[in-house]
Amino acid sequence: MSTSPEHAATGSEWWRTAVIYQIYPRSFADASGDGIGDLPGIESRMDALAQLGVDALWLSPFMVSPQRDAGYDVADYRDVDPLFGSLADFDAMLAAAHERGIKLIVDLVPNHSSSDHAWFQAALAAGPGSIERARYIFRDGKGENGELPPNNWESVFGGRAWTRVTEADGTPGQWYLHIFDSSQPDFDWSNEEVREEFRSVLRFWLDRGADGFRVDVAHGLVKAEGLPDYTPPADGDSMGGHEPVPYWGQEGVHEIYRDWHNVLAEYEGDRVLCAEAWLPTLDETALWVRSDEMHQAFNFLYMYAGWNADAQREVITESLRAFNSVGAPSTWVLSNHDVVRHATRLAVEFENAQGAGIGPNTPGPRPDAALGLRRARAATTLMLALPGSAYLYQGEELGLPEVIDLPDEARQDPSFFRTNGERYGRDGCRVPIPWEPDAPAFGFSTTGESWLPQPPEFVEYARSVEEKDDASTLELYKNLLTERRAHGLGSGTLTWKETGSATLLSLTNADVEVVVNFGADELLVDAARVILSSEPLLVTAENQAKVPTDVTVWLHA
Ligand code: NOJ
Repeated sequence: MSTSPEHAATGSEWWRTAVIYQIYPRSFADASGDGIGDLPGIESRMDALAQLGVDALWLSPFMVSPQRDAGYDVADYRDVDPLFGSLADFDAMLAAAHERGIKLIVDLVPNHSSSDHAWFQAALAAGPGSIERARYIFRDGKGENGELPPNNWESVFGGRAWTRVTEADGTPGQWYLHIFDSSQPDFDWSNEEVREEFRSVLRFWLDRGADGFRVDVAHGLVKAEGLPDYTPPADGDSMGGHEPVPYWGQEGVHEIYRDWHNVLAEYEGDRVLCAEAWLPTLDETALWVRSDEMHQAFNFLYMYAGWNADAQREVITESLRAFNSVGAPSTWVLSNHDVVRHATRLAVEFENAQGAGIGPNTPGPRPDAALGLRRARAATTLMLALPGSAYLYQGEELGLPEVIDLPDEARQDPSFFRTNGERYGRDGCRVPIPWEPDAPAFGFSTTGESWLPQPPEFVEYARSVEEKDDASTLELYKNLLTERRAHGLGSGTLTWKETGSATLLSLTNADVEVVVNFGADELLVDAARVILSSEPLLVTAENQAKVPTDVTVWLHA
């Protein structure tokens, strides 16, 4: 059954202003003690999430998977991997969230499956020309004996984007496309069977009560006709340059989301689709959130904007313009499981391409941890004052830095292996988070096991330590979320105030004025006007609060 948008379930459109907390399940809380976080672990920490004050959770994939890309390689879209628990555990965890008024978004990976998926295994067995192969992108190779790949595309994780299979009779055979790892074959979305399968997967999780989906590689499902050759820009930027990319942002992809929009609209409660779409401009990103498509699209241009007054003002102004033009909120984000944590990234003074990560031998000076944290707190204090929705990534509320000193033997990201260690990849932002200072694995697991080693300095970031410290990053985040809600900032209107300075940014939203000091000189503000600030402020005898460099304050307007 499908209904047109005018028959859609209506409601609060909660997602327009929501603050959504990303849980990376394998690194959040481990109830089974095997060193990998799980769904019962999440359930056991639900009160901490309610106390933080977030509106919703997004869980990175927990479906059945051989975990070659940490679950972004799904072998069964309708079941929970035993590593993370069971469907009953999912139901219990969802109920625990809903009881506390917290919504829950599931990660859906439609661009590719795992090579362990029954469909891919059937495709290998069935041979060229079969309906089984037609669900994926199999092609004959070039060259005299098909020994060359069908085109020159490169995998986002390094190396070529094609792998040759051995046919059932033992001879070298066709090639299949994988924009990511060879264990992640791309589906062929021109195939109606693929489309129907994913409608059914959407319904499976919607029927269980999921409040929506974060859609992985939402810009990648449709490939250009004829699969033309393409060479990405040399700087390794996976968003592409200004040349069209034959596997990103093809026009035909939008039809899929219009279809999904209608599937979600059949359900009560404003279910949401959030696009993970890395695109070179805000105007292109806004195409994913036209009124009959998705509801949110991560604002990655904002994530990567420079930490200075001009760059921040420009990206915020442009974001609001681009998303307003299609009637959508901007979805602000500073960190996730694919990028260097912003408490480190904002102190990086050298080129660091997305996905490169930072490791012990990264050229350039070590990012200054104190500077990074100070800027991260200031950046988040600015972000949470902006109208629209925002995503937080687990651990950023503790001020966690990127873990730089992971030994090579511990690394797991396929991009580390596919580039022979040239890129450290994303493990440094995925280390299991600390809950208590003295417990095994800092309270992450009951046994002390942890799938990536936690550094000793995590002790000072443990949640229970920060809970007792008014000046901690955790307490800052709690205040930000309380005041954001109290002042209605998510649904407010932003107006810039001219500061006459190239290093000061000032804006108003609802009844709050926000000032960010990027400059070396202290700024004085009337202490009575201060609602909160990203660092504790010294106050003069004249009751003036001193706002030093890299600090954001919220003032009564
Ligand atoms: C984006 C996900 O966020 C990332 O972690 C994953 O490796 C790729 N998509 C491939 O699914």
